[in-house]
Amino acid sequence: MRGPIWIASGLLGFICWCAWADTHEPAGRRVSAVAGEAVAGVDVVGQPASEAAPVAKPDRSILKKGVGYKPQAENAERGRAGKRFADFGFMPPAGSYEGRVFRLSQNYPQQVPQEDRLPQFLKLDFQREWRAYLLAAREYCFDGHIKGGDVEDDFFIPDDAPNELSKRWFHMPWQHFGPYGREGIHGLTKEAPVQPRQLAESQTSSGQTYAVAFFNDFGGSTIGRVWADPAQPNLHDIRFPHGTVIFKLLFVDIPPREVPCLCNPIRWQGYITETFPSTKRRVADLSLIQMDLMVRDDRSPLGWVFGTYQYNGAQSKKILWENLVPLGIQWGNDPDVRDHHVNDQPNKTIRNPKLKETIINEDDTELPPTHLGWNGRLNGPVDNPQSSCMSCHATAQVRQKSPLSPTFQRTPPAPGSDAWMRWFQNYRCGERFDKDVPTADFSIQLGISVQNYQKWRSEEIGISAKNYTHKAQKAKAASEGDSRFTERVNTQGKPQESSRIQRSFSE
Ligand code: HEC
Repeated sequence: MRGPIWIASGLLGFICWCAWADTHEPAGRRVSAVAGEAVAGVDVVGQPASEAAPVAKPDRSILKKGVGYKPQAENAERGRAGKRFADFGFMPPAGSYEGRVFRLSQNYPQQVPQEDRLPQFLKLDFQREWRAYLLAAREYCFDGHIKGGDVEDDFFIPDDAPNELSKRWFHMPWQHFGPYGREGIHGLTKEAPVQPRQLAESQTSSGQTYAVAFFNDFGGSTIGRVWADPAQPNLHDIRFPHGTVIFKLLFVDIPPREVPCLCNPIRWQGYITETFPSTKRRVADLSLIQMDLMVRDDRSPLGWVFGTYQYNGAQSKKILWENLVPLGIQWGNDPDVRDHHVNDQPNKTIRNPKLKETIINEDDTELPPTHLGWNGRLNGPVDNPQSSCMSCHATAQVRQKSPLSPTFQRTPPAPGSDAWMRWFQNYRCGERFDKDVPTADFSIQLGISVQNYQKWRSEEIGISAKNYTHKAQKAKAASEGDSRFTERVNTQGKPQESSRIQRSFSE
């Protein structure tokens, strides 16, 4: 469920900020005192200077030596044409948060990296040695990210000066936009509601999921190619190269005492909404629940391998992140398996022996009870139990013509019917889901980045003839001067009635 709502609201975004700003500007990040929360990552366009206050500088002392942090102003030489994509869209007002501030790692490689940079775990057989593959992939994702101190400092990429982390890991731009956009503590985006009993029988609270994803240098080269010109994304033949690794850390705001696997939790602060339906943000604690993995592996029949890990604090690992236990792996959608079974309030993990393209961890002492996806296909604890990783991700497009799941339509087709099974076919990497829309090659974030940019641009610089009325134009002229600013503030908290996509996703 997390996906559709996120994407819908991403497209719906009501706060329009400049996506990239000049790094020569020494002032750095600013927050808006008027909007309270809504800020752009670096410098904010249309922001009255008097209403901006600087955010506390990150505490540099906790960074490991050699990682090399330099204040932004000292590093003017980055980004294409000196521009920077926005780091985040929401930041606590000055004075209410003192810690580290998220930076968007964005020195994307200009070319596909050399073969010697390919991850070593690609030598393992993802079917026969699926568990070793997932554990080695987890190590690859952790390497350099876990600093050994406060977990709040892990997975922070100081990208002001060249260093190994910022050469290997990148974030997707344009996720800051809209009401679900990135917050500025850890770069988390708002994803989906969590229903009572979704994570465990004892979980009575409802809650929400927030997440942040990282692309390795192979994946980063594709982001770099698409966004080489920040004003004109290149949508031609989007394909991630062999060796691409993407991982995503997912957090929930459910109290850990309600969910047995959240004992010994990893807690991160986030600037998040009070409840899922609310737009009012505050700094609150979240707990790690899941890590998702996508690998472009040429040996896979479809070119992609998906994996996921569930947090199980009962494993009591010294390095808390290692409590993420392999949940399973998927390299296809098993298009021939049509029986309908959903286990949405799990007290037991139900595995489906008919599936040939998903493997689920068999060890119930390691894997906490979990609902999986449609008919046992791979999905994580915060995912939609009627979908699967590859089902949802095959729909990634630069214009989301079809919804992410057959259930996100006004009248969903019967489970297992031909219309339903359109979402459970085996699409190859780079293949289109809708023949007339360019694919984002399984990367929903890449699709969102393009759509957010286009939405922003159509709101900022253009008005289509279809929407033109003399009345609207007059109102616009009346607020000339700082019209962009007032529009932003006025629309906050009131998502407009929307597109086809929003309707189909929210029902
Ligand atoms: C119902 C749809 C849905 C399902 C099921 C789903 N995802 Fe996603 N996923 C999304 C959406 C939407 C995004 C983009 C927003 C975000 O980052 O969360 C995303 C983002 C990601 C990303 C970041 C890279 C990118 O651009 O897409 C990874 C990695 C990922 N998902 C892996 C997985 C894995 C592994 C599973 C299964 C365990 C899974 N997803 C299941 C909808 C889904």
